[in-house]
Amino acid sequence: HWVVLRLDGELVAFADRCPHRLAPLSIGGTIDTPAGDRLRCGYHGWEFDHTGACTRIPAVGDAATIPERARLDRPAAVQERYGLVWLAPDEPVTGLPDFWEWDDPTFDTCWNDPRPTAAGAGQLCDNFLDAAHLPVVHTGTFGVPGADELPPEPVSHGHWTASTTYRVTYRNHDDPLVATGEHPLEQPQDLYKEVRPATTALIRLVFPLTGKALAILFSCLPVDAERTVVFKMMARNDFAGDGERLAASLAFEDLVLDEDLAVLEAYRSTALPIDPTVEVSTRVDRLSVAYRRLLGELVARNQTPAGAANEP
Ligand code: FES
Ligand code: FE
Repeated sequence: HWVVLRLDGELVAFADRCPHRLAPLSIGGTIDTPAGDRLRCGYHGWEFDHTGACTRIPAVGDAATIPERARLDRPAAVQERYGLVWLAPDEPVTGLPDFWEWDDPTFDTCWNDPRPTAAGAGQLCDNFLDAAHLPVVHTGTFGVPGADELPPEPVSHGHWTASTTYRVTYRNHDDPLVATGEHPLEQPQDLYKEVRPATTALIRLVFPLTGKALAILFSCLPVDAERTVVFKMMARNDFAGDGERLAASLAFEDLVLDEDLAVLEAYRSTALPIDPTVEVSTRVDRLSVAYRRLLGELVARNQTPAGAANEP
């Protein structure tokens, strides 16, 4: 558990535990001495600066010496990017995905409300990478029943990433030329998928018929082994800032997630197996297999003192 806040405008994060009597700091607040730059514990009023050092213990008076150990634990890294705060409890093995569309002024950006789910973070991320379920699970949204076969695309590997591009068929409800009969509803789509362990993925959808593009950053926050909060950030260049269409697109994305959750929340285990003998994979599951391998390498790295030897 963490307490995340701005002190004097600076984003900071601390373990949510006061060193005095271990009260959660999140019950406290910031104070105006001198400029909203102190976090005050809500139990006995100890004050901490942006480095986590205690600067005042009200009960002993300002002249007293502050104990050396009166400081807050901090995560290895915290930063703000793509509309989210990203926190790494331990030294991160990799950076954040390159979601360049988010900063491109020709793209509109929006995000779905964070969604609490009863599924595993690894399962959710794996599902987001999977392409073979689209014509089976997503028939209520964009999937085309019967458009089942997938070409077995190769997987590219980067530093703690794996990616591939599928050519799929989908129903493009967002193409205005469908209504005029100039374009078919069922269209080809180039679907780029990239995963970055532990549980963040990025997809890029390019629509060859319209030349437009859409990208979604998908990140899973594990609450515990059984529960996950899903964050979906979208950037697309086909709506020209039309707020109504963007809102409709977010509602559509919520329906897509509903379709996935109907499957994922029915699992009896929320664990994603990384032992390749547990599941049966085919040639179109290469990205899913690569994801499991990366997770395995992450686990091995965290179990080995000289973890860097396991860099993929
Ligand atoms: Fe935080 Fe005492 S527990 S000041
Ligand atoms: Fe899905």
